[in-house]
This record gives sequence, C-alpha cells and structure tokens, in this order.
Amino acid sequence: MIRVLSKNVSDKIAAGEVIERPVSIVKELAENSIDAGATSVTVEIRNGGKTYIRVTDNGCGIDPDECSTAFLRHATSKIEKASDLDRIESLGFRGEALASIAAVTRTTMISKTADSPVGRRVVVHGGTVIENVPVGAPEGTTIIVTDLFYNTPARREFLKNDGAESSRIIALLSELAVAYPNVKMTLINNGETVFTSPGDGNIKNAIVSVYRQKEYKELTELAYREGDISIRGCISRPSLTRTSRRDQICFVNGRVVDSPVMLRGIKDGYKQRMFEGRYPVAFIMLETEPGTLDVNIHPAKREVRFHDDKAVTDFISRAIRLTLAEKESVSHIGDTITSVSAEETTEAIAPTPSFKRIQDSGSVSYFNKKPGNQVDIKQLLKTKREEETKLEEIKQIVKEEKAIYQASKDDFDMKPGQLMSFDFSELRILGSLFNTYIMACDGDSFYLIDQHAAHERVFYEKLVGEYLASDKAIQSILMPIIVETDPALSSTEDDWIPILRDMGFDIEPFGPGTYRINGIPTYMEIGEAEDFVRYFLDNIETEGDIKNITVIDKLITRSCKSAVKANDALAPEEQLALMKELAACGNPFSCPHGRPTFIRLTRYEIERSFKRIQ
Ligand SMILES: Nc1ncnc2c1ncn2[C@@H]1O[C@H](COP(=O)(O)OP(=O)(O)OP(=O)(O)O)[C@@H](O)[C@H]1O
Ligand SMILES: [Mg+2]
Repeated sequence: MIRVLSKNVSDKIAAGEVIERPVSIVKELAENSIDAGATSVTVEIRNGGKTYIRVTDNGCGIDPDECSTAFLRHATSKIEKASDLDRIESLGFRGEALASIAAVTRTTMISKTADSPVGRRVVVHGGTVIENVPVGAPEGTTIIVTDLFYNTPARREFLKNDGAESSRIIALLSELAVAYPNVKMTLINNGETVFTSPGDGNIKNAIVSVYRQKEYKELTELAYREGDISIRGCISRPSLTRTSRRDQICFVNGRVVDSPVMLRGIKDGYKQRMFEGRYPVAFIMLETEPGTLDVNIHPAKREVRFHDDKAVTDFISRAIRLTLAEKESVSHIGDTITSVSAEETTEAIAPTPSFKRIQDSGSVSYFNKKPGNQVDIKQLLKTKREEETKLEEIKQIVKEEKAIYQASKDDFDMKPGQLMSFDFSELRILGSLFNTYIMACDGDSFYLIDQHAAHERVFYEKLVGEYLASDKAIQSILMPIIVETDPALSSTEDDWIPILRDMGFDIEPFGPGTYRINGIPTYMEIGEAEDFVRYFLDNIETEGDIKNITVIDKLITRSCKSAVKANDALAPEEQLALMKELAACGNPFSCPHGRPTFIRLTRYEIERSFKRIQ
C-alpha cells in the first residue's frame, strides 16, 4: 500500500533530494525496481540520459489505483511510522524519488501487478498528472523519463556532455549489478548494449560481465560471517593492484556506500601486502542487522553510519586476511607478470607471456604438433588432486586458527603467517639468480625468493619481536655511535628514546641535540644499526603521534629499508640461513612494504607453458 507519510514521520527524513543529473534518476528508478523484487531490470538511456531514460522491470508492479499516488511527495509503501526509520530494509524509504523526478521531467509510468487484469499508464509533466488510463501491459513496471529540466532550463546548464553523464550512469549501474548478482541487469546506451549481467547469483560472474576485465576472473571470492554480521564479495590477490581506490566498491545491506570505515577495513586487511600507493581491487558486501546502522543521513543515501565503526573495520580486515591466507599465500609467477603489464588496462595479458613469445615464433612447432608424447597425465592429475587435498587441509587449519587470531588483535603484522601453511622444510635451494633471487623448488613447484624482500621481512619481525619482548638482547659496541638531531626532534626525545630502547638500542642523551648509542640489537651489524636509527629519526616527524602502535609499526617498516643490501651475492650458507630465518617468520610471504617475498610457478603451469598439457 502506498501511503503519504504523516508530517511527523516525513520531518524525520533526511530530505531535500534534488535531481541533479541523469544518474540520480537512473539510481532512483533502478533501486525502486530492486525494491519491487525484480529479477530483471533494463535501463536504456539516450544522450547521457538527458533526453531519454527508460527503466523496465519485472517486479511486483503497482496497483492501478495507486499509480498516481506514487508520484506524491512522501508517498511510500516502504515505511509507515517513525520507528521504521531505525530498521530500514529497503533501498527506498523517503517516498520522494518519483515526485522529485516527475517535477523536472516528462515522466510516463506503465505498471501492472499480478492481481490486476489490466495495467495503468500515468503521464506526469513537470509534476502535473496529465493522463491516468488503463492499458494492456506485462507484469512489472516501466518508467520513461524524457526531457530532463525542460521546465527549468537554467539547470540544464550544469549538465556535463553526454559522454560524461553516461559514464556516471554506467558506473552506477555496474555497481548495482554487482550488488545484486541475482538480478539480470542490462544497460543500453544510444541503442547499444553496454552490458548484461547474467543474474545467476554469482558475484564474480556479475563483476566480470560488467567490468569486462579479464584479470577480474582471478579475483578471490570472499564469504565470511561472525554472528549477525557477514561479508561477501571478491577481492584481488595482493599481486593485482591499482594506483587508486577506484576499484574498491563497498556495499552495505545492498546499498552502494562511500564508507571510509569500510575502506579502512580493506586497507588493514591488506596491510603489508601492498606497496605504498597501491590499492587492491575489492568489491565487498557487508550484511548487518539493519538496527546497527543508520542510512537516514544524507538524501542521496550514499552515506551510512555504523553504531560501532571499529568493529566493522576490524571485521572486514579480519575477513580479508583470513581469505587471503586461506586462498593464496604465495603469489604465482603468472599473476605477477599479468599484474605488472596489464596495469590499468582492460586487455588482459596471457598468464605467461614470456613463454608465449617463444611459441609464437614457431620454433617449437614440432612439439606443438605432438603434444603429450611424454606427458604423464595420470601423474599430473594426481598432483592436481594432491593440491586440492592440500587446499582442504589448509582450509581446516585456517578454521582452527581463526579463534587464536581473533584473540590477538595486534597491530603488528606478524600474525597471519601462523595461518598460512607452507612447508619450508620441503624447499630445496637450487642457487642464486642475478645475485638478487634465490631459486628453490619443492615437490611440485619452482620458486624465486627475493632475497631483499626476504631480508626485510626477517629484519622487521626481529625488530618487532624485540620491541615486544620484555628482555632485550643488546650487544655493547666498542665505539659508540653518535647521532645528532634538530631541536624539534630533541624536544620530543621522551617519546622516541623509549621506543628505540624497546627495540634493543642502548641510547642516551649526550649534550644538546646529540645522542650516544652504546649498544645495539644483537642481530644487527653496526652499519645497519646506524642506518636504522637515522631512518627512524628522519621518519618520526612525518608520522605524528609516535606513541601510537600503528605509527611505531610504520616507522619500523620504513626504517627496515635501510638495513637491506640489494644485489649482494649471497653464499650458499647465507642463502640457507636467510631461508631458515624467513621460515621462522610469522608472515614469510611478503616484505613489510607489501611486496611478495616469493613467487611460485607450479609444475602444472610449467607443463602447460610447454604445451605438454592443456
Ligand atoms: N518499479 C516499481 N515497482 C513497484 N513499485 C514501485 C516502483 N517504483 C515505485 N514504486 C512504488 O512507488 C512508491 C514511491 O516510489 P519512490 O521512489 O518515490 O519512493 P520510495 O522508493 O518509497 O522512497 P525513496 O524516495 O527513498 O526512493 C514506492 O514506495 C513503491 O511502492
Ligand atoms: Mg524509491
């Protein structure tokens, strides 16, 4: 039943919705279709939606007697009393959209319900109903909106060109198609179909069909629940990154939202797996009790307020960490290549381009013609099966360890490693490559380990370990290190001296602006220690409140850079030692700045590259 809300209720609604541009109309109409339970929604636009917008759905339709009521301000079937505002379960609730749209356009609505023998057509020009007649119509609702701002020409001036307006509409409908994977959505722009989502309920299929980036096929699916709050979606492995947050889209209870709280959760979830300035791809859909959330904040409804921000951030971060740990702990060589070269393009690159090039030259065509001659398919299938059982085991471990992880909400990123099961004892070191990588293999994969990144990880964890330990292992040095700082920094020495002491430095003031270091952590060399302290002090100023654990973490992370020597040839014993240290790390899979320490090429991928199998 569509009713006009009482004044008492309508006054409580964040109102004043103005139709600013075509995308606002498309959003409102498509959301109405979703609220009507449609499983198929078609949106057609012309000229960026300025001259024509049509939205057709197969939803419940509107009773013939209520079709014109729907255009009244504050007329809605979705809420009734003020208390309903505390638990909003539909996308619409203000009863404003149709009224606002009809006021500035020529709008035609054709609608039919299952119960009614005929449909109804209502035509409204600039807010005035000029026709209200029975018509034959299929079940569902079609709304056609033409001539935006025909009666307020001044507002037309503020519209952008057709391309800009239609690109907003495409972006919006893409988001909706992802948020509602069980609704088949079609978008037609100037007569051409832009996309049709399959409507099969699968989020990833929806994403791939609307965003059309092949690399999105590699997204990892996310599904996680804790009591009343749950999350679904698709996220990228750390090897697929973007230079902006553009591909991070958040939904709450089916609503696309701009939520810093949720973005923070994503960021935390990928902590230390990303370079600074790189962002993962993440489509995340949070479902929570409507009562723990306020959407009645802004007329555009793109903002939400959570009752407990931190709980939401932590929940999302946890879900992402667990998923990444479970699904993929080591980057694949194929991914890495793809992510580097396919940066920001829509054309995906073949998974192993370097191998591809050789095949294309035709020089190995003989082998191509005789595929599988010596391939032991059975063996390969067996390996694949083993991989699958391994995955099952990993899943089990993740489940068991989840409890432990949840209990320890440390800000230092050393925990996820406990969840990742990877057997270092199986690794056999094969040698060194370019003086930069260690080559290794185990039963079914080949690995390259970036010694630089590995060293950084080891160094980071030792520092943090020291910082957290109660007994500091300090080695005295014969020649003290003297460091000088500027006055601004000395004035905050009471803040940072204890932190350095906690990390195992014996440091004391030594005259104005000067400090003397008499002892350093046991695992550092003097040069490393000196560089570390300088880096640390250089970075304090840029980091603000250094008593905060996150800031300390950042400082340690940054300062680790200082300690690692690039392009140093490592002797076999050193390689072994480094691998052992890495194996002992909580999270051996990425350096503290988020670069992978390892990449893997599985036997399966190798065989496929040689066309031994498909
Ligand atoms: N496509 C549709 N199918 C079925 N009913 C619809 C459709 N579009 C609108 N309605 C009915 O018309 C009413 C008014 O729609 P309108 O969009 O103006 O308000 P609302 O969706 O209730 O709230 P909001 O202003 O927040 O969108 C809705 O409450 C709904 O009952
Ligand atoms: Mg609505």
